Amino acid sequence: MRTDTPQAVNLADYRPFPFAIETTRLVFDLHPTRTRVSAELSVRRTGGKNEPLVLNGERLKLVSIAIDGRPLAAGEYGVDAERLTIAEAPDAFVLTTEVEIDPSSNKALMGLYMSGGRFCTQCEAEGFRTITYFPDRPDVLSRYSVRIEADGKFPHLLSNGNPVASGSLDGGRHFAEWSDPFPKPSYLFALVAGDLDVLADKFITMSGREVALRVFVDPGQASRAAYALDSLKRAMKWDEEAFGREYDLDLFMIVAVRDFNFGAMENKGLNIFNSSLLLADPQTATDLDYERIEAVVAHEYFHNWTGNRITCRDWFQLCLKEGFTVFRDQGLSADMRGAAVQRIKDVRALRARQFAEDAGPLAHPVRPSSYLKIDNFYTATIYEKGAEIIRMLKAILGAPAFRKGCDLYFQRHDGEATTVEAFIACFAEASGRDLSGFFGWYEQAGTPSVTIETAYDAAAGALTLTLTQSTSPTPGQPDKKPLPIPIAIGLLAADGRVLRDTEIVLLDQAQMTVRWDSIPEPPVLSALRGFSAPVNLSTDARPSDRYVLFGSDTDLFNRWEAGQTLARDLILTRAAGAPDEVGEERYADALGRALVDDAAEPAFKALLLALPSEPDLALMFEAADPAALHAARDHLRTRIAVHLGDLLRRLHGEMQINGEFSSDAAAAGRRALRNACAEALSADPHAENLARLLGHFGAARNMTDMIGGLYPMVAMGGVPREKALESFHHAWRTEPLVLDKWFAVQGRDPNPDALERVIALTQHPDFEPTNPNRLRALVSTFANFNPARFHDPSGAGYAFLADEILKVDAFNPMTAARLVEPLGGWRRYKPELGDLMRAQLERIVAHPNLSKNVLELASKALG
Ligand code: ARG
Ligand code: ZN
Repeated sequence: MRTDTPQAVNLADYRPFPFAIETTRLVFDLHPTRTRVSAELSVRRTGGKNEPLVLNGERLKLVSIAIDGRPLAAGEYGVDAERLTIAEAPDAFVLTTEVEIDPSSNKALMGLYMSGGRFCTQCEAEGFRTITYFPDRPDVLSRYSVRIEADGKFPHLLSNGNPVASGSLDGGRHFAEWSDPFPKPSYLFALVAGDLDVLADKFITMSGREVALRVFVDPGQASRAAYALDSLKRAMKWDEEAFGREYDLDLFMIVAVRDFNFGAMENKGLNIFNSSLLLADPQTATDLDYERIEAVVAHEYFHNWTGNRITCRDWFQLCLKEGFTVFRDQGLSADMRGAAVQRIKDVRALRARQFAEDAGPLAHPVRPSSYLKIDNFYTATIYEKGAEIIRMLKAILGAPAFRKGCDLYFQRHDGEATTVEAFIACFAEASGRDLSGFFGWYEQAGTPSVTIETAYDAAAGALTLTLTQSTSPTPGQPDKKPLPIPIAIGLLAADGRVLRDTEIVLLDQAQMTVRWDSIPEPPVLSALRGFSAPVNLSTDARPSDRYVLFGSDTDLFNRWEAGQTLARDLILTRAAGAPDEVGEERYADALGRALVDDAAEPAFKALLLALPSEPDLALMFEAADPAALHAARDHLRTRIAVHLGDLLRRLHGEMQINGEFSSDAAAAGRRALRNACAEALSADPHAENLARLLGHFGAARNMTDMIGGLYPMVAMGGVPREKALESFHHAWRTEPLVLDKWFAVQGRDPNPDALERVIALTQHPDFEPTNPNRLRALVSTFANFNPARFHDPSGAGYAFLADEILKVDAFNPMTAARLVEPLGGWRRYKPELGDLMRAQLERIVAHPNLSKNVLELASKALG
């Protein structure tokens, strides 16, 4: 048994920090193994007379400490593994500390570490405390000035704010000084030092100020940063137009690093990115990479207002910046790439990640009230469901009142660290609405289930809708209350004509009825249009109603949704042993008609052609059997490939683009549809299709087509798989981002020998477990996206994942913890599997020296 039970942090225990840190002066003397950091904090007491000054600090070697220049004697302060305490601090003073740290041994990639021979930092959420002693909490805002000294081998010395001085020093060393005029919390501090190439540009803001833009990348990679730089300019413009937000410093910098625990980080004026979300050219990046780069560059830039100018009072308020900022980046993507297609992709991701989380032992409210490690709460719930809540707020208030609320928030809370309550209060005030019930969305975990029953009275020409909602219990929340759910509803006639336009019905009780008159004929219900709320909807619709929606709903989201629901029901029925052959034919016919609709965009058709994923299907199942689902889904794939073979081959040919590559949404849509056709045809691998697929892979001139061709080759197994993987590896062995794709495609390999091969790949010379991208490409792809092989009846897939978690936890707890989730759903699987999953969680929890990160998630998963 472990004796050191970690302490939970509770929202209810929030207390302001009893001191203000008005200015923070940092001097870095950089050295790979012995970096000196001296900090000069001007401290002023704001709380009670007897409050001690307690600063966070971990893994620091304290070299000296002084108050107002006077070194402290041993009895005047205390240091332990997590903090520095000065019991009797004056009311106003300057505290100077000097510490030594070792960036090169830092494989947790938090704080100051080295990547590719360069220094870089990641401080959110609690990394700053491994750099210097400081109140490392988001509500302590300070003005920073930074001096960096380093060897000439590190030519670029970067930090937040504006550059104020630079020059050379003795012994081949040099320095740079930076000053950030905006008070900020420590988690937004950043430093980068090293040899980098830079791509430069400028942006003129709406008030006419010129901002210098710089993107720093590995030497030789500057051309690959052009798309990110262009995305940045579009994001800056969009934020001015959509939210009236202007950039505030004279300089905005982005740096790409290869070793990074997550996507990117919004440090003030100096964003740091995982290189996988920054570098792109047609040869090495897929359209999905381009799409994500556009979204993440925007996301981090948007944080400058939603996160940096207005930050979080404490980490329980994380959704205040993350949910709002995801909402904002989704808005940009919708404007750049088409609202319907973007919405479908966002909802697909929401269901795959957030609905799964909300349905399992790791379910938590968008604003949680307790945690062990805040790093475990950078979840789909905080981010994606957090964004859905803002989207509902906008739907309920209407766009003008929503914008007024945003303006009020920006004006009232600028320069503050605030709360979700304060944010919602701005919308209540701006709209004059009572939003107290709405707040339940932040406090209640779980995905609500909504049912709608319809009764049509032909004589009266009236339709009665009976709407009900309920939410199942989640850990720690046995009883759920009704939430205000905006449900966008329209009506179609049986022949697809519009009978009634979209209207938002606000379901804010457990049950309510709505009566609509003047409905001249029996209607087909199109409910939850645009996925107007993050709920599971069930209605009394018959398959024939769904075919009406699939064929003609004006709401493209619901058109897609109808197709998915039809396919899902057919797969689940077959997996349960009662196949509906006639229904499968009918579905394939309707899909064929949708694919030849000239009015629909290729990107939309590509989405229609993608069947519901296996993990999504498993969510719909009690006691899920991944093998049966895989087989049933494959059966429908084959049925479609056979039934629509001619059409799919024709489209595959027509969508081919000859001529120059364009990364725009229209061209990407054509490539997506062509790849979807290839994927579909691979389910019927006769000679003609095989030749076509080989041609697709062999002739690919960009990475989107290449990956679209590689997966079917891998899925075929045998000689095509070996040959394709070998030629791909040979071509790309020196490009880390492309090699990640090579590992990922093998993580998704559906062949029966995939697990064995994945385990063997962990011994491949190119497998670098200390690099999170490489690790996730193989291990996380396998565990999350290859259910048929991960859920091997022997339990070997689970044991493999547990082995990897324990190995990685020894040096990078944060990345290890993110691998726990696939085991967390054990209760949803059939008991033979669930028991084996649980056994691996028990093995993990029993492991000595487990990190708090993994301990928290694995023990919660055991429930
Ligand atoms: N704030 C960053 C973003 O969303 C992510 C930081 C993740 N930090 C963490 N400890 N998981 O853009
Ligand atoms: Zn963010």
